[in-house]
Amino acid sequence: MIKYISNRGGVEPVDFETAILDGFAGDGGLYVPERVPQISHSQLKKWKGLSYVDLAFEVLSLYMDKSIMSAQELRNLLQIAYAPFTDEQVIPLYKMQSRKDTYIMELFHGPTISFKDVGLAFLVNLVNFFLERKKQKLTLIVATTGDTGPATAYYAAGKSNLDTWVLYPKGMITDAQERQMTTLPHANIHPVGVSGCPDGCDDLDLVIAKLYANESFKEKLQLSSVNSINWGRIMMQTVHYIYGYLQVCDEVGEEINISVPSGAFGNLCAGGLARKMGLPIANYVVANNTNACLNRIFSEGIFTKEPIIETPSNAIDILIPYNFWRFLHFATDGKISKKINAWIEEFQQTGIVKFDADTYASYSKGFLSNSASDDETLSLIKQIYEEEAYLLDPHSAVAVVAADKLATELEGKKLICLATAHPAKFQDTICTALGVTTLPAGGKHFSVEAAKTKCEKVYLCHHDSLEEALIEAMEANFEVNK
Ligand SMILES: Cc1ncc(COP(=O)(O)O)c(C=O)c1O
Repeated sequence: MIKYISNRGGVEPVDFETAILDGFAGDGGLYVPERVPQISHSQLKKWKGLSYVDLAFEVLSLYMDKSIMSAQELRNLLQIAYAPFTDEQVIPLYKMQSRKDTYIMELFHGPTISFKDVGLAFLVNLVNFFLERKKQKLTLIVATTGDTGPATAYYAAGKSNLDTWVLYPKGMITDAQERQMTTLPHANIHPVGVSGCPDGCDDLDLVIAKLYANESFKEKLQLSSVNSINWGRIMMQTVHYIYGYLQVCDEVGEEINISVPSGAFGNLCAGGLARKMGLPIANYVVANNTNACLNRIFSEGIFTKEPIIETPSNAIDILIPYNFWRFLHFATDGKISKKINAWIEEFQQTGIVKFDADTYASYSKGFLSNSASDDETLSLIKQIYEEEAYLLDPHSAVAVVAADKLATELEGKKLICLATAHPAKFQDTICTALGVTTLPAGGKHFSVEAAKTKCEKVYLCHHDSLEEALIEAMEANFEVNK
């Protein structure tokens, strides 16, 4: 059975269930498996043609043996998780007409229409499965740039073992994203709109880290998180890379490229891990908007924190891509946890880390990076819509812009661009990009339209008093539901 250790090297190995239910490792680090299971080409050949759910079963079985749950239990959980997806393929691929050998992988057919559904559909159900088995309850807390919150809330809604708090920077997410959280009537879902967040969601992450560090509070409420700090998100997200690869490759072994709009680097950490497992990916494109922390890491070898800039792709307006630290563990084969720990501390103190040449060479191999300006993003949405009547959301557009800018390096291989959200979540931006006042049909979604007329339920709070206010509200709620 694979055990889990911290990328900071400060805890004894734990089992899978503990890693999932803890969220963060005890030393404040992120859980990683002690060894990375390998997939051979002959294995991949056998998997070609599997449905998404059947493939997920095979991939997850590499991490979750029968001591964790039986094969039948895993199958049931996967079936429950992906039943609400509206496309029978779960994550279909669209072949672009205006570009050669380029595919858009649509990760937005889940109930809250972003790629967060793909990871959280399984993870929240898995957490609930463990809790039911242990007859325990958890308090989940997540911070969101607009998509993790709705997906977490959707899957946790009505599950009596999961009291769920979703924090978002008020005014920095779209109305559609906000309403996906605030219109849920369930008593166990508590959206909190936080004003006064100059650094957006990163400000909320810091408050959550403080709550985690508050031992007695954490213990009393059994605090955990399903943000991409949780190992389960990364594990689950490896599946869509493998699925996409098997859909587009002619022969297993052929190398392809994949472009990923990136913020906290959870999605691409999973992509990097899938390649470590044996997936033949030539290059990943790290696609940033003007908040280009990852672009600096991958093109200059420098991890720096710059002031946040609000962009039309708000879900990737992130200053600190914390999953990069987890990826660094994989990239260096787990050999430099002391260095990683020292760099995390240096970054917390100074806001800047410059990596040595060896480390840079090992993590940047097979990654290209670029960033898309707001104008480039909006123009691309219009261009693709005019050329092939296909509507991209602003994040998916960032992936295509970044790949376009790297066309020479990517030439000669198939390319998959990840579409991480449905355009209906970003209606104002779509209208601006197209220069219209009425949204075209492809920019609408029945769930977003339905939420426009529902009652909203939300806590509001200023960031200055968030920590104390949350402790008070969460404890009061805990006492009521004891
Ligand atoms: C629509 C969308 N695209 C891309 C991302 C970036 O994913 P990650 O934070 O895993 O890099 C997010 C995450 O918040 C998102 O909501």
